[in-house]
Amino acid sequence: MSALHKLMARIEQTEALDKVAQPVAGLVGRIVKPRPIRNILSGSYLGHPLHPLMTDLPIGAWTMATLLDTVGGRRAEPAADLLVTAGILTAAPTAWAGLNDWSDTQGGDRRVGIVHAAANATALVCFTASLVARRSGRRRVAKVIALGGFGLLMSGGYLGGHLSYSRGVNINHTAWREGPAEWTSVLAASELTDDMPQLVQVGDLSLVLYRSGGTLRALDSVCSHMGGPLDEGTVDDGCVTCPWHGSTFRLADGSVVRGPASSEQPAYETRVREGHIEVRRR
Ligand code: FES
Repeated sequence: MSALHKLMARIEQTEALDKVAQPVAGLVGRIVKPRPIRNILSGSYLGHPLHPLMTDLPIGAWTMATLLDTVGGRRAEPAADLLVTAGILTAAPTAWAGLNDWSDTQGGDRRVGIVHAAANATALVCFTASLVARRSGRRRVAKVIALGGFGLLMSGGYLGGHLSYSRGVNINHTAWREGPAEWTSVLAASELTDDMPQLVQVGDLSLVLYRSGGTLRALDSVCSHMGGPLDEGTVDDGCVTCPWHGSTFRLADGSVVRGPASSEQPAYETRVREGHIEVRRR
């Protein structure tokens, strides 16, 4: 195991971080609860998480500012100052998108996430202090502070990458789940109770069936957000709501009605042949 991976494992196991992480996550969860806020910050309207897209703005601006500070010379000073300002202005919406995603995590992921947030928040403080120093003509001090902020930014980026690529936080949990392309029998129609979600197995895949008023629907049972069990969810007004974080999907086509999910839930065509419910991929 590399030294960095050992460090990540140590952070994941540091339960003392929960003392800060849990109340902060609870507070964030309450702030982002209204559906429009949740959908915007989660990227539910985009079909992709918002936070990774937003991080390009402050990271790009501050990285280029640091480059200009280092090798740009006098002529590059106005451009460097502008980039520092742009990074500061874009940091807040980026942070809110990230906090929204993080508030749904648990255990080791939540601990790494709070350290990631702390590193980036400290980087923001550094670049803000650097801007103040630039405005007051203390250019050398400004550059040193910005360089420190850049180091913190890279550390925060590493932790964020660890969460996404090593821990799979906020990836689409149905990305590799593909049901049958041909009509496949999954259940005797008489075994399905109306107005009750039912879990069925199709090979390695599990689906949730729902029949109401003669209309039969089928969705992948694993929530695209973080893998919650949709068969244990509640159904209302043609939508199923995940019991874990409240993502709501339209049963007809799997589209996201309410985040935090940003990826549609795979939906299946259904029919009844000779008393058996059959499904196939759309
Ligand atoms: S697992 Fe998060 S809403 Fe379903």
